Amino acid sequence: MRHYLMVRPRYFDVEYSINPWMDPAKPTDTELAVTQWEWLRDLYLDLGHRVDLLDPRPGLPDMVYAANGATVVNGRALVARFRHHYRRPESAAYLRWFAAHGFRDVRQARWTNEGEGDLLVAGSRILAGSGFRTDPRAHEEAAEFFGLPVVGLTLTDPRHYHLDTALAVLADDLIAYWPEAFTEDSRRQLERLYPDAVIASAADAAAFGLNAVSDGRHVILPQAATRLTAQLRERGFEPIGADLSELLNGGGSVKCCTLELRHPPASDPGVQP
Ligand code: ARG
Repeated sequence: MRHYLMVRPRYFDVEYSINPWMDPAKPTDTELAVTQWEWLRDLYLDLGHRVDLLDPRPGLPDMVYAANGATVVNGRALVARFRHHYRRPESAAYLRWFAAHGFRDVRQARWTNEGEGDLLVAGSRILAGSGFRTDPRAHEEAAEFFGLPVVGLTLTDPRHYHLDTALAVLADDLIAYWPEAFTEDSRRQLERLYPDAVIASAADAAAFGLNAVSDGRHVILPQAATRLTAQLRERGFEPIGADLSELLNGGGSVKCCTLELRHPPASDPGVQP
């Protein structure tokens, strides 16, 4: 069972533009966003996962992208410090939620850090993006806070402004990614660490196919990423296609809407969330 935190897109809208997908002139349909989001939440529940909800707040239209709110490992929560002022007030809601729900170590990041948008937990290491949002100094801070090695990766394509739009963690030692989103150095690092990685096509990356959530067996990803879906099936996963078209207008999809809460091992005497 996985444990996820999500935020209903009750106030979802595109009122400003902080990534190339966002066009405030294009109309949005909040009701459709809610329907699509509910499908995703129900899917997680049907798969046997636990989903907790954080209350949305008016005036924070991007709050549905819960992955950006924090990174949680071993019951410790490092809460985001957003790059853009529009999203900064979201952090207080996460700080309050974690404190009220038994997480033992809760702290807001000192450096700009957009949670699981850029800090992806892969087994016992953290893959950390920078280039557009998260400050590279936040990588060091995360390594210290969690006591885990962090691999810094640099993004180069503004359409893939967060690491979770260019790379998906499929299992502790397996990832999928689109190499063109990274600098040469970062590509070399990824090739060395993950020689068996699933390499996504440009078309699937553009369809947000890498903005996927894996529970180790099922991989939920945008249904438009057809080739990636076939690649995942070949590797023994059970891909499930999602239609979150409305949330794409804000520059996010499946993973962006899903913050994973990783508990301490059951043997740990600390507080259990
Ligand atoms: N509009 C949001 C932003 O630009 C989208 C965030 C998407 N989330 C993600 N995990 N990539 O901040």
